[in-house]
Order: sequence, then structure tokens, then C-alpha cells
Amino acid sequence: MYDTGKIIVGLAIFVGLVTSPIWLNKGKAAPKPSPKLDTPAIQQLEKKECVESRQFMRSTHMQLLNEWRDRALRKGERRYINKKGEKIYISLQNTCMKCHSNKKEFCDTCHNYTDIKPYCWDCHFIPEGRKTWASTEGHS
Ligand code: HEC
Ligand code: HEC
Ligand code: HEC
Repeated sequence: MYDTGKIIVGLAIFVGLVTSPIWLNKGKAAPKPSPKLDTPAIQQLEKKECVESRQFMRSTHMQLLNEWRDRALRKGERRYINKKGEKIYISLQNTCMKCHSNKKEFCDTCHNYTDIKPYCWDCHFIPEGRKTWASTEGHS
């Protein structure tokens, strides 16, 4: 008769030893980005919500921004109706960046992690200057 108790303990130790490099490594992997939400504008919100759900924003903010840009520039529309039926003013600067004024601690933490460099900031996110631009510049 085998001593099943001992075999199981032996197996558990074996599995533990074999997989331990994986467990140990977990702690050492590059830290996941943790985009900060503590801006003055967000602190003042009654409901801490984005223009769409967090999941949607996470996965789809790039497409949403493209859609906003096309609407604003091609159709001259500045109004976006979100899934909850709320009206939102279409503006990268005056809407997104008003709440997410901490670009470095928010947008950039994620983008650096995934090594993405949106070229938007060549033109956008200039604190005041942009209002003086010709409105047809860019996105030609
Ligand atoms: C009214 C303030 C406000 C505006 C405007 C706003 N956001 Fe947000 N955003 C938030 C808040 C608050 C959260 C966190 C939502 C949650 O936890 O449910 C968030 C979450 C996000 C997330 C997900 C972050 C994560 O860690 O999951 C992304 C990406 C994002 N916003 C991008 C944008 C972009 C791009 C725009 C413009 C199209 C925008 N936001 C406009 C307040 C705002
Ligand atoms: C939760 C992490 C996260 C946050 C926060 C975040 N992004 Fe992103 N962003 C990504 C990822 C990941 C991609 C690449 C997605 C892909 O290629 O499918 C991306 C792509 C983009 C792109 C498209 C770039 C390209 O070259 O195609 C734009 C524009 C963009 N983000 C703008 C913003 C802005 C503006 C903010 C801050 C208001 C922001 N993002 C915040 C994760 C994030
Ligand atoms: C070459 C300069 C330039 C670059 C690069 C650029 N934009 Fe723009 N964008 C503009 C100008 C100019 C407008 C028009 C502003 C207006 O009509 O008030 C505009 C308008 C927009 C709008 C709609 C209205 C507004 O005020 O926000 C969105 C959204 C937008 N851009 C998003 C983006 C995103 C996202 C990127 C990067 C993927 C990007 N832009 C890159 C110049 C640029």
C-alpha cells in the first residue's frame, strides 16, 4: 500500500518548487500603470464618471477621439450624446483634458507602458495658445 498522504504532500512540494520561479517573478514584472484620477476637476465631480463607462473608455477612447475629431472638423458638430443620453461638448482640450489635467500621471503612464506616442500633443494641450489657430489647420 502506498501512503497517499505522503504522496500528496510530496506532490504539493514538487509543484511548489517547479512553479516558484513564476510566483517570484510576478513581483518583479514591470508595474502595471495606475493612471491617477485625483485632479481638481474630478475631485469636484459628484459622480466620478467619465464621458462613457470606464470599460468603454479603457478600450475605446482612441476611436472615440477619432470620432470626435471627425465630427468637429468635418461636420462642425460639437455635441456628443453619450450612452446615457447626456450632452457632452466635443473638445480634447476643454473636455477630456479639463478633467484629466494631469496628462503625465494619467494618459502618459498608460501610453509609456505600452510604448504608444499619440502625436496629438504636437498641437493640442498647449495651455492657452490654441484658440488663436486657424480652425482648418491639422487633420487635413
Ligand atoms: C467629467 C470629467 C471627465 C471627462 C470630461 C473625461 N473623463 Fe475620463 N475619466 C473620468 C473619471 C472620473 C474616470 C474614472 C471612471 C470610473 O472609475 O468609472 C475616467 C476614466 C477614464 C479612462 C479609463 C482610465 C482607467 O484607468 O480605466 C480613460 C482612458 C479616460 N477617462 C479618458 C478620457 C478621454 C479620452 C476623455 C475625452 C474624450 C475623457 N476621459 C473625458 C473623468 C472624465
Ligand atoms: C488605462 C490606460 C490608458 C489611459 C489612462 C489613456 N490611454 Fe490612450 N491609449 C491606451 C492604449 C493601450 C492605447 C493603444 C490602443 C491600441 O492601439 O489599440 C492608447 C491609444 C491612444 C490614442 C491613439 C494613439 C495612436 O497612435 O493610435 C490616443 C489618441 C490616446 N490613446 C489618447 C489618450 C488621451 C488623450 C488620454 C488621457 C486623457 C489617454 N489616451 C489615456 C491606454 C490608455
Ligand atoms: C497638426 C496639428 C494637430 C494634430 C497633430 C492633432 N490635432 Fe486635433 N485638432 C487640430 C486643430 C487645429 C483642431 C481644430 C480646433 C478647432 O476647430 O477649434 C483640432 C480638433 C480636434 C478635435 C475636435 C475639437 C477639439 O477642439 O478638440 C479633436 C477631438 C482632436 N482634434 C483630436 C486629436 C487627436 C486625438 C489627435 C492625435 C491622435 C490630434 N487631434 C492631433 C490640430 C491637430
